[in-house]
Amino acid sequence: MYSQLEQRGMAEPPVNISTLLKMKNDGMPIACLTAYDASFAALVDQAGVDLVLVGDSLGMVIQGHDTTVPVTVEDVIYHTRVVARGLQHAFLVADMPFMSYSGEQQALENAVRLMQEGGAMMVKLEGGVGQISVVENLARHDIPVCAHVGLKPQSVHKIGGFRVQGRNSDKARQMVEDAVALEGAGADIVLIECVPNELGRAVTEAVNVPVIGIGAGPGVDGQILVLYDVLGFTQGRMPRFVRNFMPGSDSALAALESFVGAVRDRSYPAPEHCFS
Ligand code: KIV
Repeated sequence: MYSQLEQRGMAEPPVNISTLLKMKNDGMPIACLTAYDASFAALVDQAGVDLVLVGDSLGMVIQGHDTTVPVTVEDVIYHTRVVARGLQHAFLVADMPFMSYSGEQQALENAVRLMQEGGAMMVKLEGGVGQISVVENLARHDIPVCAHVGLKPQSVHKIGGFRVQGRNSDKARQMVEDAVALEGAGADIVLIECVPNELGRAVTEAVNVPVIGIGAGPGVDGQILVLYDVLGFTQGRMPRFVRNFMPGSDSALAALESFVGAVRDRSYPAPEHCFS
């Protein structure tokens, strides 16, 4: 009865939440990427990525908006459903869009939709201690949660731009406390974006769940990047933490494999991708 989830006829069973926890405990870096469609999802999966996020970054890279704010639950369900069809191995996480989790009941209903209609195995939401009751309620209903701290792109208009977070010591302390409280509320993964290396490491040491970083330095349990940045599709000024893996690769698959290899052997992120 459990065979399709555990095997799916693969040499390696699909990644699940226990796999990710074991990777943290074994000190094996977790390689994560975003994806938005079935064809790229299949390539990302083939490259050996452990976790795929259908991020609300789709609002920027797919829909052409300047921020993630316009993305809707329907958008994320659609992209999660098509990504799910491309995956055999990776763990699938879907983003909860702006204002789709502003209360416990609303968050529960939308998380259920992302899982039942989209096929997500976990939902991700942005926030600190303000989201404790939402996370607790999701966890009480056995909905796996990734809590996103640090730079929260859905708050861009409130914080006045996409900038490094936690540089001042009070803010850094608060972020560590937030991560601990979110873990206590039932979060299964913490994602931390755009913070100094030292803070990425401090959050990772403070919690027992896997910590995935984007622009959070080498001291976290795993790295995530936006797929189109890794493939060099994104135009214009890039955040410091981005590395384009296409140069030196003769195909998209080779670039994705190179990303996975660089995460595993910790050559990514290098000092030039980090904040102090
Ligand atoms: O929406 C997204 O793609 C994300 C990643 C940048 C982590 O949240």
